[in-house]
Amino acid sequence: LASIEVDVSSLTPGMSLTAKWRGKPIFIRNRTDKEVEEAKAVALSDLKDPVARNANVAADAEATDLERSAGEGKENWIVMIGSCTHLGCVPLGQAGDFGGWFCPCHGSHYDTAGRIRKGPAPENLAVPTFSFVSDTVIKIG
Ligand code: FES
Repeated sequence: LASIEVDVSSLTPGMSLTAKWRGKPIFIRNRTDKEVEEAKAVALSDLKDPVARNANVAADAEATDLERSAGEGKENWIVMIGSCTHLGCVPLGQAGDFGGWFCPCHGSHYDTAGRIRKGPAPENLAVPTFSFVSDTVIKIG
């Protein structure tokens, strides 16, 4: 299937689900205010990969929390391909030194905006093309 639609109505803040798209896991998380604030507080100069890696924004957009998220008004939502940018393992959620995702294969730590902060992974977790088709349904692809 080229695209899928995912019902996210059950995700209250702090909850996530994993969908499957083109054979890959897609992480969808309704972030808490605290997670968003933590991600916003990080200086771009502290990021290993300063590029947003978000298919929905300009290719050279900076990896601010806003540019990583679902955008203005929906900053609590983050949608990412659940494939470590090192060698493709599936990271674990709510884990690692930065409270985001942790890849146990070789120890890559991602923050609450899915940005690589420590370990061998070279890039932030990729954000696929997606859009909200309603308040509770996300179309991926
Ligand atoms: Fe994730 Fe190596 S595949 S750290």
